[in-house]
Amino acid sequence: MAREFTSVGVVGLGTMGAGIVEVFARNGIDVVAVEISATAVERGRVTLTGSTDRAVAKGKLAEADRDALLARVDWQVGLDALHSVDLVIEAVPEHLDLKQRIFAELDRVCKPEAILATNTSSLSVTEISVATTRPNQVIGIHFFNPAPVMKLVEVVRTVVTSADVVVDVEALCERLGKVDVTISDRAGFIANALLFGYLNHAVSMFESRYATREDIDAAMKLGCGLPMGPLALMDLIGLDTAYEILDTMYRRGGRDRRHAPVPLIKQMVTAGLLGRKSGRGFYTYERPGSPVVVTDEHTPVTTGAALADGARAIAKVGIVGSGTMATGIIEVFAKAGYEVISVTRGAEKSAKVCEAVKTSLNKGVVRGKLSEEDRDAALGRVTWSATLDHLADVDLVVEAVVEELSVKKALFASLDEICKPGVVLATTTSSLPVIDVAMATQRPADVIGLHFFNPAPIMPLVEIVQTIRTSAETSATARAVCAALGKTGVVCGDRSGFIVNALLFPYLNDAVKMLEASYSTADDIDYAMKLGCGYPMGPFELLDVVGLDVSLAIQRELYLELREPGFAPAPLLEHLVTAGYLGRKSGRGFRDHTKR
Ligand SMILES: NC(=O)c1ccc[n+]([C@@H]2O[C@H](COP(=O)([O-])OP(=O)(O)OC[C@H]3O[C@@H](n4cnc5c(N)ncnc54)[C@H](O)[C@@H]3O)[C@@H](O)[C@H]2O)c1
Repeated sequence: MAREFTSVGVVGLGTMGAGIVEVFARNGIDVVAVEISATAVERGRVTLTGSTDRAVAKGKLAEADRDALLARVDWQVGLDALHSVDLVIEAVPEHLDLKQRIFAELDRVCKPEAILATNTSSLSVTEISVATTRPNQVIGIHFFNPAPVMKLVEVVRTVVTSADVVVDVEALCERLGKVDVTISDRAGFIANALLFGYLNHAVSMFESRYATREDIDAAMKLGCGLPMGPLALMDLIGLDTAYEILDTMYRRGGRDRRHAPVPLIKQMVTAGLLGRKSGRGFYTYERPGSPVVVTDEHTPVTTGAALADGARAIAKVGIVGSGTMATGIIEVFAKAGYEVISVTRGAEKSAKVCEAVKTSLNKGVVRGKLSEEDRDAALGRVTWSATLDHLADVDLVVEAVVEELSVKKALFASLDEICKPGVVLATTTSSLPVIDVAMATQRPADVIGLHFFNPAPIMPLVEIVQTIRTSAETSATARAVCAALGKTGVVCGDRSGFIVNALLFPYLNDAVKMLEASYSTADDIDYAMKLGCGYPMGPFELLDVVGLDVSLAIQRELYLELREPGFAPAPLLEHLVTAGYLGRKSGRGFRDHTKR
């Protein structure tokens, strides 16, 4: 017979604990909520009332239901109050000795049949369990932040957890309206093992001034559709908690340097910059606990006038290339009112590109997003040419030809001969060093990367890649152009993968390694990232869409440039590519797409 859970205890009412109390109380379960002091209890109570009041204000919870929910919670100081609950979830800070002490105490206080669960993100559930006399009744129930919102729960069974305890906890998760994935006891489980290397890498980009906090976050939100950027997420998690998780993962997870906490994190924790909970972390918040970001001394000025400061005037734009990116970029510039000269390698190619641009613009008209006049005006702004000489008087050239360094270098050398002085020369390369292209000209200060995302007319992000030779004026011009195109331009240095690919692909590669190690299934890993972290697609879904060959090539570049052992491509990824399983485009990748 399945266990009945009528009352549960929650220990620690911080970021996670207060949310976990809400999850249980919302689902009709009585909660004994425990903290170390009356002040801490009060803080937890304020968090819960704040959250439920917001739900009422948004019409998501009836007032009577809120009152009933709050009445189910018994606020207490000290563990003794937990003597008759059926299950306890511990959510105190991420320190093994603290958790072990609490579990030993819970073992003494709680009734013999009670299940003792930890919400740890990275510590060994097994090590916590052996502090009790009932390790078979100890389990991990890992909620995601914010607990009332995120659907995923990772249920962590150790080698000694009883099968019936696992089944009962799985049933409880279902009753709470959560989706559970049950896994064994490894550092970081599924989601954090894939998430924290990425978060730490993003912090290192910020620490080394590779890009600003706003640009790193905007890049991942707009380039990958993530619900929040990595630095905003660090603030939500709490920098102290994130530090402990990274530190534990580093020590437990094979000393992967990518998990060694970036020094800045420790410095911020020492300085009391813990994120939202202390009112300041990477960003500054209205007050402690508030999600509202306020401007501070690091907030960039983004008004049109300031953006255009020092920028050159751009009216006429040359776009070189005839592929998907060039086609999309022509449309973007023409729609934004620029005079465009498209240059391809022949009249036939020009006709094809022209047709593709027309088709795309017509789609906009059919969907009601563009008027017929605007379509005609946009098309009227484009001149079609098959000779570079027509670029003699443009103000900006955007190169989007094949991703081969020799081809791009030759093209830039020609542009250098043809174009008037003062032209900004931009490359859309996604993986080649922009400096190599710049040095093919006599004017490297005027060369910059403008990395558009596919499809260019839809994706709102452009990575603006500055080399060590790019002038401030060229950068300012690129920023002003992106703004005029209605795109968010994020500025970064000239390193492999820029921001988005450098942060995205190692995470995808890690997911492949996790699958290869048989820790979990592709479905559960995809679920974990979608339901635990709010990603629009799981890693295997995304790999199949991007193409396994493309992903492998990018990962190889990252590995070669940074020589980071953790970036070595997963052997399984290499084998799938060798076998011709390239993803959707070949009908099979991690999944078989021929049957759907
Ligand atoms: N923050 C996240 O995003 C997140 C997500 C999932 C899991 N977790 C895990 O949840 C746990 C809690 O993390 P958090 O971020 O909520 O931490 P937190 O610092 O926000 O809250 C911890 C709370 O525990 C209380 N506490 C400390 N000692 C106690 C004791 N002896 N008895 C009772 N209460 C005590 C503290 O007063 C504090 O309110 C950690 O194991 C963490 O890894 C965190």
